[in-house]
Amino acid sequence: MSNLTKNQLDSHWMPYSGNREFKRDPRIIASADGCYYKDNHGRKIFDGLSGLWTCGLGHNVESINEAVSNQVRTLDYSPAFQFGHEKSFLLAEKITEFMPSGLNRIFFTGSGSESVDTALKVARAYWRKKGHGTKTKFIGRVKGYHGAGISGFSVGGIPANRTLYGQGLDAYHLPDTQAPGTEFTKGMSEIGSDRANALLDLITLHDASNIAAVIVEPMSGSAGVIVPPQGYLKRLREICDQHNILLIFDEVITAFGRMGANSGAEAFGVTPDIITMAKQVTNGIIPMGAVAFKQEIYDTFMEHGGHDYMLELPHGYTYSAHPIACAAGLASLSELQEQQLPQRIKDMSGYWEEAVHSLRSSSDCITDIRNYGLAAGITLSALNGQPARRPYEVAMDMWAKGFYVRYGGDTIQIAPPFITERSEIDSLINALGESFSTL
Ligand SMILES: Cc1ncc(COP(=O)(O)O)c(C=O)c1O
Repeated sequence: MSNLTKNQLDSHWMPYSGNREFKRDPRIIASADGCYYKDNHGRKIFDGLSGLWTCGLGHNVESINEAVSNQVRTLDYSPAFQFGHEKSFLLAEKITEFMPSGLNRIFFTGSGSESVDTALKVARAYWRKKGHGTKTKFIGRVKGYHGAGISGFSVGGIPANRTLYGQGLDAYHLPDTQAPGTEFTKGMSEIGSDRANALLDLITLHDASNIAAVIVEPMSGSAGVIVPPQGYLKRLREICDQHNILLIFDEVITAFGRMGANSGAEAFGVTPDIITMAKQVTNGIIPMGAVAFKQEIYDTFMEHGGHDYMLELPHGYTYSAHPIACAAGLASLSELQEQQLPQRIKDMSGYWEEAVHSLRSSSDCITDIRNYGLAAGITLSALNGQPARRPYEVAMDMWAKGFYVRYGGDTIQIAPPFITERSEIDSLINALGESFSTL
């Protein structure tokens, strides 16, 4: 048990959590260093999801800590609107080094959800500036996750995140990319790229003159690491080009190394018009998100901006380009580059792939395993009509064994820090194998 009182525990309504279950027997994290947490009993726990896909560099990184503490003492806050501080411009340029060429205009936000909101608003406004004000609908994808805002849940496609909330934005959905027969595929499936053609049906139904943008995660993270089939993203790109529809990649999880590349766009060889990002920008030390736009989008706003003292885009957040987040972002992205971590993940991905697929034989309850870069999702069959039960039980057993893994819906997700050693992958997989074998 924790030292917290019942009243203290009850006072905090925890996000995306089973509050009643958690508060009965709280799992309290007290500190973190490298790839490990310590809980409030002093137990060492391996971080099997890099925080929430945030901390690829591991925890307690000296250069980031130092950048943040220096920044706190130098400039704690500066107004985000109409005035600036140098680090936001330095960080914007640094981010472009990770983006595909041409996506070189960076807007700062405070989270992934705000990044998605920004991308969708700009997509609509862009078409209006170009004289196509009817282009307002969005196309997302089944099993997509685009954050917790009203716009994010509207284009998102995880049913449990939508059903409570009623009417959202005018959004429609492509089918997911999990074609039957592709279970246990290592990396990208050869089957399923034709699922992108469902976009043509949606265009027939709604007409391209009414559609602003398609938004997809290049690899779906939150639904359990769903990897795009070969050729799928390229096909989406072709159709968007043919019909004058913007293509947005939500790279809140896939940008900055996780895929063994600077971005998902780079890993999969397809360049969208807009990329949303967050999580890994500051290595999770402080909230920050960003959106990369292709230059033509930015230029359109500048050209149609009216007098130059006027706002070209009436949009932004009090915490856009927060100086402490910018300092953390500069330190974190420099570390990624100096340690060549995207390349390290690429080199390690074969080992990871073999390790995660070796779990298949540990239980008949495993119905699928998927992997890419340093990420994997394992689907478990439902127990008596409760699809989320087994993943919960596995995650609790793993916590007891000294490993943090994420559970959600019918999947277990694992994505350890980029600095993880092979021996640590072995320990994680062995523990998971033992856990699965008891199902
Ligand atoms: C692809 C994607 N988009 C958006 C978000 C939302 O980010 P945040 O929780 O920072 O708002 C997430 C979070 O997991 C995500 O994975």
